[in-house]
Amino acid sequence: MIKTSFYKQLTILAVSFVLSSTIVITALAQATVLPYKNKSLPIEQRIKDLLKRMTLEEKILQTNQWTYGKNANENNIEASKKAVRPEIGSLIYRSISPVYRNDIMRKAINESRLGIPILMGFDVIHGYRTVYPIPLAQACSFNTELVTQACAVAAKESRLSGVDWTFSPMIDVARDARWGRVSEGYGEDTYTNSMFSVASVKGYQGKSLSDPYSIAACLKHYIGYSLSEGGRDYRYADVSAQTLWETFMPPYEAGVKAGAATLMSGFNDISGIPASANPYTLTDILKKRWKHDGFVVSDWGSVINLIPQGFAKDNKEATLKSFMAGVEMDMVDNVYVENLEQLVKENKIPIAKIDEAVRRILRIKFRLGLFDKPYVEELSEKDRYYQPESMAIAARLAEESMVLLKNKQHALPVSKDVKNIALIGPLAKNKVDLMGSWEGQGIADVVETIYEGFEKEYKGKANILYAKGCDFDGINEADFEAALAVAQQSDVVVLCMGEMKKWSGENASRSTIALPAIQERLVSYLKKSGKPIVLLLSSGRPVELGKLDTLSDAILEIWQPGIAGGSSVAGLVSGRLNPSGKLAITFPLTTGQIPTYYNMRQSARPKLGGYQDISSEPKYWFGHGLSYTTFSYDSVKISSKTIKKNQKLTAQINITNTGNMDGKETVMWFISDPVASITRPMKELKFFEKKTLKVGEKMTFKFEIDPMRDLSFPDANGNRVLESGDFYISINNQKIKFELVD
Ligand code: BGC
Repeated sequence: MIKTSFYKQLTILAVSFVLSSTIVITALAQATVLPYKNKSLPIEQRIKDLLKRMTLEEKILQTNQWTYGKNANENNIEASKKAVRPEIGSLIYRSISPVYRNDIMRKAINESRLGIPILMGFDVIHGYRTVYPIPLAQACSFNTELVTQACAVAAKESRLSGVDWTFSPMIDVARDARWGRVSEGYGEDTYTNSMFSVASVKGYQGKSLSDPYSIAACLKHYIGYSLSEGGRDYRYADVSAQTLWETFMPPYEAGVKAGAATLMSGFNDISGIPASANPYTLTDILKKRWKHDGFVVSDWGSVINLIPQGFAKDNKEATLKSFMAGVEMDMVDNVYVENLEQLVKENKIPIAKIDEAVRRILRIKFRLGLFDKPYVEELSEKDRYYQPESMAIAARLAEESMVLLKNKQHALPVSKDVKNIALIGPLAKNKVDLMGSWEGQGIADVVETIYEGFEKEYKGKANILYAKGCDFDGINEADFEAALAVAQQSDVVVLCMGEMKKWSGENASRSTIALPAIQERLVSYLKKSGKPIVLLLSSGRPVELGKLDTLSDAILEIWQPGIAGGSSVAGLVSGRLNPSGKLAITFPLTTGQIPTYYNMRQSARPKLGGYQDISSEPKYWFGHGLSYTTFSYDSVKISSKTIKKNQKLTAQINITNTGNMDGKETVMWFISDPVASITRPMKELKFFEKKTLKVGEKMTFKFEIDPMRDLSFPDANGNRVLESGDFYISINNQKIKFELVD
C-alpha cells in the first residue's frame, strides 16, 4: 500500500517535471521568436515591431509593385524571378502555378533580411480560370447572393494558384456605353453598384481575410473614371462635387464599410486634380472620414501619368504628389523606389508618412495571414479548377444575367415541335468572344459554344443546322446565300451575333455603339426565309439596335456569358429555363442619345428637351427584362401616409405568378423626391429583391423605408440632408405618395 503510493508520487513528480520543462522550453522558444513573427500577438503590435526593424530602403520597397513576367511563359517567369528583389512589396502574379508562387515567396522569406512576404495581385474580374459572365451581365441578374458565391469560388481558384489579391470589383457607375470599360462594372445605377460592391467584397474576402481561400479585394478606380470625356478612355473627367457624392461615392463607401482591404486610384482627372494625386478623395474622405485602414494602389502607371496630365513636371514631383495625397503603392512605375528616399532626405516627405504607408500595406499582409502561412497548397490544375460547384455557379449566373429584351408573339421559347433549328452567325461556334474582356486565366478551349449548347439541348429532338453567315465586321457577304439555304430548311432562325470581346474593356472605347452594318444586312437577307428570327445578342455594352430590333421577333441579350454560357442560352431558347435578367443599364436608341439613364434629372420643360430627329425614349430602359411567365402586381400597401423623420415606413406588395411557368421576379423599389433644396433625379432605386415564384404562387415583397438612409441625399460636401415634404414610391407602374414630417 505504502509502496504503491510512493511510486504514484514519483510518477506524478516525473510527469510534472516533464510538463513544466515543456512549458519552460516553449516559453523560451517563444521569447526567441521576434514579436512580428509571433502569431499570438495582436497584428498592430507585430506591425509596430517590424517597422522598428526596417531600414528606410526596406520600407520604400514595400510601396513598390512590379509584375512577375510579362506573361505566363515559364522562362519569362524564371528570368524575372531572378531579377525581382526579395524585399519587394507586391507583384502582379501572372502565372497560374502555385509552385512558382511558393518559389518566389521562398526567395522573399529566406533571402530578405526580415523575411516579409510578397503580396501577389492579379486581375480576377469575372472569375479566375472558371470564367463567369462579365460584371455588367452579373448586375443584370440582380442576384447579389449568387455574385457573392461566384466571387468566393474565384477567390478560391486564385488563392490555390498563388494569388492573394484581386484588382476587383470595378464599381464605377457607367452611363456612357461608348466607354469600353462599361463591361467591367455593374451598370448605370449607384445603388446597384453599391449592392454588388458589397456582394463581391464579401465573396472575395469571405468571413475573414485570413481564411485559407480568401483574397483581398480592391475597389476601383477611385474615383470618377467612368466620366472620362466622351467615353474615351484615360481622359479628363469633369466631376462636380454634387455628382461625386451623389453618384460615385456610395458604392465606394459601401465597399469600404464591407471591409474592402484596398482601393485603386484612377487614371482620370477629377475636375483638375487627378484621382491618383487627390488629397481630398484619397485622404480626407477615404482615410479620415471613412477610416479606411488598408491601402491604395495606383493604377498601372497612374503616378507617372501625372506628367502628361500636366500635374507634375517629372517623376519626382509625380511621386511627391501621389504619395502625399494618399497613394501608398505604386503599380509598376518604379518611381516610388526611385524617388522616395531622396524626398525624405529633402524633408519633403516626413518619415512618419512613409511609416504610415508601410503600416497600411503590412496590415493587409498580416490580415491575409501571409506572415504565418506564406505558402499555398500545391494542388493539380484538375483539383483547382472547374469544380462542379464553380461550373454550376457559372451556368446559373449566365442564365440569370441574360435579358429577354423583346418577344413578339411569343417567338421564344421555341416551340417544342421544331425539327430543324438554323443557328447562324459569327458567334455560333465561337469560344473566344463569349469570354469577354479581362477573362482572368480563362482559356477559350474549354468555353462551351452556343452551338455545343444547342446540340446538347436538342439531342434526339431537333437538328441544329449551322451557317456562319458573316463575320462580326467587314463587307464579305459570300456566306449569305448558304445561310439563307439553312434558314429555309429550318423552323426558326437563331442568330448569334453582336460584339467581339476586344470591342470592350480597357482602351476599347467606340465612337458608335451600333453594330457593324454587315450584321444588319445578314438579318435583312435572312428575313426572305419568312421564318421567325430570334436574335441572341452578345455584347460588352448596350448596343444601338437600329433595324435589328424590328427585324427580329425576339431578342435575348446574352452579354459575354463566360465558360458555361452555351447551355444556358440553349436552355433559355428551348424553354427549359425561364429568363429572369433585367437591364442594369439603359439601351439608348442611338449613340447620339448618350447619356440616357433612368435617373436623370427632370427637364426644365418636361415635355421638351429631347432631339428633333429621334424620340426622347431610349430603346430599353434600365430595369427592362421579360419573362416567359406573367406576374401580376396587386396594389402597394403602405403602413402610413405620413411618417416622422425618426420613424420607418413599410411598403408591401403581393405578386402572383399568373403564367404557365415557374419564374423569378426582381422587384425594384424607387423613390422620388419632387421638391428639394438640391434638385433630385426623377427617381432613384433604393431596394431590389429577387424571388422565385412557382406557377400560381403569390408572394409578398416588402421594402422598409428608413428616412435617413432612403429619403436623404448628400450635399456637395457629402453631408446627408433629410428634408420633410412629399415623396413617392414607384414600383412597376404604380406611384404612391407619402409625406415626411419633422
Ligand atoms: C487597369 C486596371 C488593372 C491594372 C492591372 C490597368 O491598366 O486600368 O483596371 O487592374 O491595369 O492590370
